[in-house]
Amino acid sequence: MNVRPATEADREAIGELLLVSWGSHIAVAHGTAYDATTLPALIAEQDDRIVGLLTYTIEDDALEVVTLDALERRSGVGSALMSAAVDVARRAGVRRLWLITTNDNLDALRFYQRRGLRIVGVTPGGVDASRELKPSIPPTGAYGIPLHDELTLELTL
Ligand SMILES: CC(C)(COP(=O)(O)OP(=O)(O)OC[C@H]1O[C@@H](n2cnc3c(N)ncnc32)[C@H](O)[C@@H]1OP(=O)(O)O)[C@@H](O)C(=O)NCCC(=O)NCCS
Repeated sequence: MNVRPATEADREAIGELLLVSWGSHIAVAHGTAYDATTLPALIAEQDDRIVGLLTYTIEDDALEVVTLDALERRSGVGSALMSAAVDVARRAGVRRLWLITTNDNLDALRFYQRRGLRIVGVTPGGVDASRELKPSIPPTGAYGIPLHDELTLELTL
């Protein structure tokens, strides 16, 4: 598997992937709506097929992971993308990498904590607030868990 920075030529494929994974290329977290197709991105490829995508933004002293998707799970795609994002953050000279996940996303919580990220914030009702900006966010998430809250995870670099 190869991880590389996305280029302009990848924009259409990125838009399609986000649409399939999240129903939209607009990602909403911590009260901010991002058009993820306009963000810098890392692409994981295997045999010329896109198998994963991470979009991010760098602001102040931090890299925020905005979206992360492994199209093939449990085969190292997510880890390779996170590791590449850490490299990007270090090269940019920022002090931390952070992201928001949601209270239902137990798989992601496990994945991130296994990769050294710490839970540094819980925003009760954070997803309910995001739903005001993006009404397509469903009321129920993974494992049938009611989707309400945001969790902030962080890796100090
Ligand atoms: C969260 C997510 C990105 C993780 O990606 P992933 O590609 O499945 O992650 P990895 O394969 O790198 O690691 C997952 C586990 O599989 C294991 N694994 C990796 N390759 C493996 C292999 N070939 N055989 C068996 N296990 C393997 C890893 O060791 C890891 O286990 P560990 O945490 O105990 O070490 C993925 O589940 C996903 O896309 N979820 C949906 C979107 C989402 O929720 N994104 C996050 C939003 S905040």
